[in-house]
Amino acid sequence: MVKFRINGSLATGLLVIQTAFLLVLYSRQNIHFSDTAGKEKVHLLILSSWRSGSSFVGQIFSQHPDVFYLMEPAWHVWGTMFQNGAKVLHMAVRDVVRSIFLCDMSVFDSYMPKERNISSLFQWSVSRALCSAPACNSFPRDEISDEVSCRTLCGKYSFYKAEKACKTYSHVVIKEVRFFDLKVLYPLLTDPSLNLKILHLVRDPRAVAKSREQSKKSLMRDNGIVLNTNGTIVDDYKYQVIQEICRSHVQMYETAVHKAPSFLKDRYMLVRYEDVVRDPLLEISEMYKFAGLKLTDNLKNWIFNITHGQSSGDKKEAFTITSRNAASISKAWRKVLPFKKVEKIQEVCKGAMNMLGYQLVDSEGEQKDLNLEVVLPRKQNRFSWT
Ligand SMILES: *[C@@H]1O[C@H](CO)[C@@H](O)[C@H](O)[C@H]1NC(C)=O
Ligand SMILES: *[C@@H]1O[C@H](CO)[C@@H](O)[C@H](O)[C@H]1NC(C)=O
Ligand SMILES: *[C@@H]1O[C@H](CO)[C@@H](O)[C@H](O)[C@H]1NC(C)=O
Repeated sequence: MVKFRINGSLATGLLVIQTAFLLVLYSRQNIHFSDTAGKEKVHLLILSSWRSGSSFVGQIFSQHPDVFYLMEPAWHVWGTMFQNGAKVLHMAVRDVVRSIFLCDMSVFDSYMPKERNISSLFQWSVSRALCSAPACNSFPRDEISDEVSCRTLCGKYSFYKAEKACKTYSHVVIKEVRFFDLKVLYPLLTDPSLNLKILHLVRDPRAVAKSREQSKKSLMRDNGIVLNTNGTIVDDYKYQVIQEICRSHVQMYETAVHKAPSFLKDRYMLVRYEDVVRDPLLEISEMYKFAGLKLTDNLKNWIFNITHGQSSGDKKEAFTITSRNAASISKAWRKVLPFKKVEKIQEVCKGAMNMLGYQLVDSEGEQKDLNLEVVLPRKQNRFSWT
């Protein structure tokens, strides 16, 4: 048996040095990972469709200092493989989403040129995380970011920074409009390396149709992919794409609510855009709670500002639709759409509208009568409407 004899003051000295070393290590770790330490990461998918208020809801998450946010990464998949249909592309899209949740951006190798930077990502500048440290050193990460100033200062940074930044956040949030079937996401829900939650955002199809008409051109390529036309662009004047979107809402909602497998429990939340617009703070609080995020005073002030038509300084708003003008825009279809079109949309989306609490109108008179409320109030039970 060998015995070491160390005198008391030397032992104390060594202990102090070791403790100090560990403390330094720990605090360094903490500077970068303060939010993830000891807590499981959260992966939130905002599942929505085009022109349904998902950019607005996406911003609500993107501006949170704990969130790494990307908007519609599947845009790259669809753009690369535009001759395929949405169904064939589902799995590639799922793989992209899974990789981003794990902060593995190498998945973009298939969809982007080798020479690329942060600005190669679709709509990168709406992501506060890509506009602040450590992705971009021009702005601190706990401030509300501004798309315009971000675009001028942060685009040139190395693409690798996106991955580096992602790893420092406790929440990864992706907004996607290119899923049409909840079952495609089952493998992600059961993946032990993920902690996936799904926020399903819907909007009155008549308001969606009105908004889609305003951005007709930009939607034509996607329309072709939804309808599987082998790369031919499509003007959705027959509302076939809307029909497919409505069908997918019914499928997702029914699957989640009536045929939910056990792994979906507490992992699915349905939100109607109209409810967010009607009472932003209440709905945002509930969405944050679902995602495990705290509503800070700074965010509260910002939300108050954007829902009361105030932008900070004289800079342009980070996104075009604030909740306040959204409230009137939400009703615009009632003045603008010809009743014939309203009838047609109601015909193809009847099932979804009944299920989601959007009341049909039977005449032009009813359509134009703004005293007639067509968005039925939400009941206590989040999953049913009167
Ligand atoms: C990097 O970003 C800037 C814009 O911020 C762009 O002009 C430049 O071409 C980009 N470089 C590459 C290699 O993509
Ligand atoms: C799809 O389009 C490509 C190119 O336009 C064409 O070569 C191909 O034959 C088409 N495929 C089908 C199944 O129509
Ligand atoms: C809200 O608006 C006020 C007035 O324009 C501005 O001073 C303030 O910085 C804004 N706050 C946030 C968090 O955006």
